[in-house]
Amino acid sequence: MTTSPHSGAAAAPAGRRETFSSRRLFILSAIGSAVGLGNIWRFPYIAYENGGGAFLIPYLAALLTAGIPLLFLDYAIGHKFRGSAPLAYRRLHRAAEPLGWWQVLVCFVIAVYYAVIIAWATMYTGFSVTNAWGGDPAAFFTGEFLQVSDTVGIGFDYVPGVLWPLLAIWVVTVAIMVAGVNKGIARANSIFFPLLLAMFVILVLQSLFLPGAIDGLDAFFTPNWAALADPGVWAAAYGHIFFSLSVAFGIMVTYSSYLKRRTDLTGSGMVVAFANSGFEILAGIGVFAALGFMAFTAGTSVSEVAVPGIGLAFIAFPTIVSSAPFGSLIGVLFFGSLVFAGLTSLISILEVIIAAVQDKLGWSRLPATLAVSIPTAVLSLALFPTATGLYLLDVSDAFVNSFGILAGALVMVVLIAWVLRKLPSLSGHLNQVSSVKMGRTWMVLVSVLAPVVLGYILVNEVIAKTASPYEDYPLDFLAVFGWGMAGLLLVLAIVLTFIPWSAGSKLHDPEYEAHAAALEEEAGR
Ligand code: ALA
Repeated sequence: MTTSPHSGAAAAPAGRRETFSSRRLFILSAIGSAVGLGNIWRFPYIAYENGGGAFLIPYLAALLTAGIPLLFLDYAIGHKFRGSAPLAYRRLHRAAEPLGWWQVLVCFVIAVYYAVIIAWATMYTGFSVTNAWGGDPAAFFTGEFLQVSDTVGIGFDYVPGVLWPLLAIWVVTVAIMVAGVNKGIARANSIFFPLLLAMFVILVLQSLFLPGAIDGLDAFFTPNWAALADPGVWAAAYGHIFFSLSVAFGIMVTYSSYLKRRTDLTGSGMVVAFANSGFEILAGIGVFAALGFMAFTAGTSVSEVAVPGIGLAFIAFPTIVSSAPFGSLIGVLFFGSLVFAGLTSLISILEVIIAAVQDKLGWSRLPATLAVSIPTAVLSLALFPTATGLYLLDVSDAFVNSFGILAGALVMVVLIAWVLRKLPSLSGHLNQVSSVKMGRTWMVLVSVLAPVVLGYILVNEVIAKTASPYEDYPLDFLAVFGWGMAGLLLVLAIVLTFIPWSAGSKLHDPEYEAHAAALEEEAGR
């Protein structure tokens, strides 16, 4: 094995930062991270609830004006400063380290509930073969399957049908993570992503041939132009794009820190962003074609069958599986796609935390992976496969999205653009290594448009969530697991910053110093 940091080494010698062995594997892993539950489970109902076809306009606007510009910002930080989120931000500026820890903590919260949805999808893949939900998928989902309690709170009535698959998901995920960046993450993506793509394309084609599919597509694509006048629709689009692209919560900073010095960052980012959105729109088409069929068989309209939220996947799809020709195949393809899409995203979420621990404590891969994964898995297994897990999942997801990802993105752009004034040097970095050059437009989007839009969305979120309790949950439940959790992330981010970097940490790393010196020399040429 060569010792050059820019070689195609599959695994790094002890203590050296691993790099993706090719740009193709990086792009594949970044797409694998971006394409997740957000694309298949969340996008179709968000689009439908927010104006159908007209939603594609705010969605594309959000992608071009905020999603892609912030994706490039993440890439620039991760690649230039070659570290996990806390280390990369610390190298950017000492005062920015808490932001890195905040992103790590956001990933921790997402990981604990994200795995649960993958576990449900795993079970539903099997249920599709036997139509285990019988005649009433809605009652089955919350009743026999999740055994949801009538009382909102934290309970410890475990549901074995979720507990065991969740344990299996964690075992698979930890096994991938232990193997490292190339042998674990890149290899898992090389296997799971092509499978996901093949399954999803077959699913969409099969759905398009169902009777009533056209009505479903009509419902999805027929623009409700009036929706464009509703600021909430624009907020939904901007709110969705960060989660969907895996931007502003540490993932892309971490993945791009595993890139070789000479890598086209913006070119790769374009591929990732358009692949993610392509998949998302494909998911919308597949899901709505299937809903069109569902409406057709029920003799009603698509709006009657398009249940919002979690139910769209786990209630509507089983109904389709039970009645469509080759329904079991549709079910296996749909829920199997959710499992593969979810797994490739979950590993990227977990990598943010593992990389941070490795950098801060100077630990090698195995102890860092176990020290992160075991407590994360234990918390996930303790809190979610219970009769009250669904409530906790709903509240954690809603609050971490708004007050973790979006608030974090706002702080990130304000701090970097206005307080530390680092955008010119970051745009210089992108331009030094990339094909598509970033000019003033990028800086204006990141420094002006993004803060204004994010600020607007957040103020509205605070108003909405304080004016009336989110989904009418009890106030004490929201106070602890919604507001309390969001506040705790901030406090812990500061606490973690104050823990000193250990002597063996990566803060003073000769490999990074060589990387920075080489970049500087190239810039001066
Ligand atoms: N980007 C991932 C998703 O869409 C987190 O689910």
